[in-house]
Formats: sequence, C-alpha cells, structure tokens
Amino acid sequence: MPQPFPAVVAHRGASASRAEHTRGAFEQALQQGADGLECDVRVSRDGQLVCVHDRRIDRTSNGRGAVSDLTVAEMAGVDFGSWHHPHEPEHGVLTLDELLGMLADLRNRPRLFVETKHPARYGGLVERKLAALLARHGLTTPRVRADAPVLMMSFAEAAVRRFKAAAPRVPTVLLLSQIRGVRRGGVLPTWADVAGPDVRLLRADPGFVSRVAALGRDTYCWTVDEPADIELCKRSGVRYVATNRPDATRSHLDDP
Ligand code: G3P
Ligand code: CA
Repeated sequence: MPQPFPAVVAHRGASASRAEHTRGAFEQALQQGADGLECDVRVSRDGQLVCVHDRRIDRTSNGRGAVSDLTVAEMAGVDFGSWHHPHEPEHGVLTLDELLGMLADLRNRPRLFVETKHPARYGGLVERKLAALLARHGLTTPRVRADAPVLMMSFAEAAVRRFKAAAPRVPTVLLLSQIRGVRRGGVLPTWADVAGPDVRLLRADPGFVSRVAALGRDTYCWTVDEPADIELCKRSGVRYVATNRPDATRSHLDDP
C-alpha cells in the first residue's frame, strides 16, 4: 500500500521530463502519481497571473522579455515547450486561471501549491490578484480550510501576511531558505500554516520538522529528488515533498 505521507508534490509539474509549468508537465505529473502540484505565478502586463518561474521568459520559451512587459495574448503565441526537448508539443503560456480550471475538472483534485514571485516589487498586487482569482473559483469558502485544495506560498513574510489577510481560509506556506524563528526558539507566525524549508536545511537540522510538529504545523520540503533526501523527509515526518521527479519519488516511497 502507498504510504500516505509524505505526499508527493510535482515541482513546476513533472519538470524533469516535461517543459516546466506547461499543461503537459502538470498532466504528466498526475500520470506519474503526484498527489499535488507546485507552480510559480507572476503578473503579466495585462494583469493576469501566469505560471512562469523566472522574471523573464527567455530561459523557458522561444520568446524574450519580462513577464511584466508582455500580455497573455503575446505569451500565448510563444512556445514554452520546445526549449526543453525538440519533440515537446508547442505550449503557449499557461495562466493560473486555466490551471485551476483544468484541476477543477478532475475527479481526484490534486492539491495545488501556488508560489507568488516578485512580491516586494508590486506591493501586494500578486497576492491580491491570487486571492481574487481563488474567490472566483470558489476556493476561499469556509469548506476550503479543511480540504485545502490550494495553498499559497512565498519566501517573503510580507507576501504571506498580506495574502492571509486577504484570504484567511486559504492555508499558507512560509518558504525558508534559512531555518529561522523555530531554531531561535520562536514560533511560526500565526499567518503561516506550514513551514517550507529547503531540503539542505533539513540535512543540517533534521529535528526542525519535529519542532514544527510540536507547534501543530506541517512541513513542506523542497526540492527532494535524491533517495537519501526522500528517506530523510520520510524519517523526519515531513508532510509534503516537492520533487522534479514525481515518478521516481513515488516509486521510492511506495517501494523503498
Ligand atoms: O517549492 C518551493 C520552491 O519552488 C522554491 O524555489 O526557485 O524553485 O521557486 P523555486
Ligand atoms: Ca517555486
């Protein structure tokens, strides 16, 4: 029987085998047994949330320019698939609205972890837009607190705090590239429901997870591709592991 935890979260979709943040990468992740999906979002020039990691589209498409200088229509005409592999089908940019629509149609809806990028620069615009879009999709109602179909994440404390104020029922993950707060004997702030450390921090301090658990909170750990890291997360009680290789991580967890 598969282990219920840690749950496998596909980082940018099945990004080792498909072009990241494309519909194909998310579909493949689910075929590979992912329990959840991770995506990054930025705001386009015409104010829509699009699933793109970098500030510019140059690395992950055949186009050029900053996401904030391009409209969705312009990015729809750019290919976000073939940079990864010549045989990848062409993909225009994927909007978060489209991704949410795609997930809503699934029988077993996977949990979606949405990371907002460039929060400081736009003074909360991304978080306000995310809260509004989730509300339009019916994902901020009282029910969602228990089901948690979507979680918001950021490295920026201000972004998580602002989002929590705008959508209090949607769980949040404070991403950590340094173990702080809990290590200093403090607690996770009330507006952060889940701790999100880099796996390298857990290698140095595996007791972090139990200290977070003692606060009644879960841990989301990234990016967990190596068997030793998967084992570490499992042993330490990590609730979610974000991986570029959902197939290999799933197999390792199901049949170590
Ligand atoms: O899941 C968290 C992780 O995605 C943060 O790093 O740079 O891949 O967005 P990055
Ligand atoms: Ca991310």
